[in-house]
Amino acid sequence: MSPLADDYGREVTGVRISLTDRCNFDCVYCHNEGLGDTRGPMDPQDDEMSADEVVRFLEVVSEFGVGKVKFTGGEPMLRDDLEEIIRRTPDSMEVSMTTNGTFLPGRAEGLVEAGLSRVNVSQDALDPQEFAEITKSGAYDRVLEGVQAALDAGLDPVKLNMVVFEHTAGYVPEMVEHVAENDGLQLQLIQYMPELTGKPEWNIDIERVHGWLAEQADEIERREMHHRSRYWVDGGMVEIVDPVENPEFCANCHRVRVTHEGYLKGCLNRNDDLRPMGEMSREEIRETFRETVANRVPFYGEYMVRDGNGGWEMNDEYVSAEAP
Ligand code: 5AD
Repeated sequence: MSPLADDYGREVTGVRISLTDRCNFDCVYCHNEGLGDTRGPMDPQDDEMSADEVVRFLEVVSEFGVGKVKFTGGEPMLRDDLEEIIRRTPDSMEVSMTTNGTFLPGRAEGLVEAGLSRVNVSQDALDPQEFAEITKSGAYDRVLEGVQAALDAGLDPVKLNMVVFEHTAGYVPEMVEHVAENDGLQLQLIQYMPELTGKPEWNIDIERVHGWLAEQADEIERREMHHRSRYWVDGGMVEIVDPVENPEFCANCHRVRVTHEGYLKGCLNRNDDLRPMGEMSREEIRETFRETVANRVPFYGEYMVRDGNGGWEMNDEYVSAEAP
């Protein structure tokens, strides 16, 4: 079956599943997959989807032509059954994961054997001190070991995720140099998204980063489909993900999300579109997935519209949908 499309012609070809909202880090910028700050204790939580439920969901959406899944968290590697979930993911789906890297040593190889094909490791700084301040963790060395473990297990290229905001913007050049100097690494610069974190003062002007990279780059590739620019600097590949107030980015969004509790979510920036999948019978999953796709709208350009002063305001049509 070919992928379902929404009213804006956006086919849903990927799903992003949060397997837990537990995390051993406490990054200052974290939007927690759009749920805001829900971090709870590190103990296993009973409201997390079981492996069976995750697999059932994946089997159903693979019927709808969804070909990609990204596992995320919280920290997805806090799930002991991650390997099992990946092993049981339908073969038609490409599996990737976003992780803080600390649990990759010792587990990277098993994940690859289970079917993992790509990994993003969050690494926002090269300096241990700076790293500790951003992540509220001292596990810097462990992250570097994790990146190496992923490379050793054959997961190259490993993408390093760096959130670009007030605390990190000055370190972009050294991160670019770092990926240029180390084979198998790529850099993904992610514009800090203030929408759900309540700290708009951390925003930086991402156009300046584009400008700086354009000056350094030997080659630039514009990928309209993904609305992502790629820069090659001294042999290293750097990508910028800039979704903030960017209708073009939203127009090219092809994924829906699932929260750790098993709610479908059509947009990272919204929490008024969460749909529970009931007891997660196949029919309930099908029905809810269809509804979620049918109801998703571009956040910038439809849910939020221009206010006439160069800013954005909520489209009146959605005001009543907002959570009380
Ligand atoms: N803005 C941009 N990116 C964020 N991430 C988490 N919170 C934010 C935010 N407020 C990214 C991190 C992490 C990934 C799961 O989400 O890069 O690697």
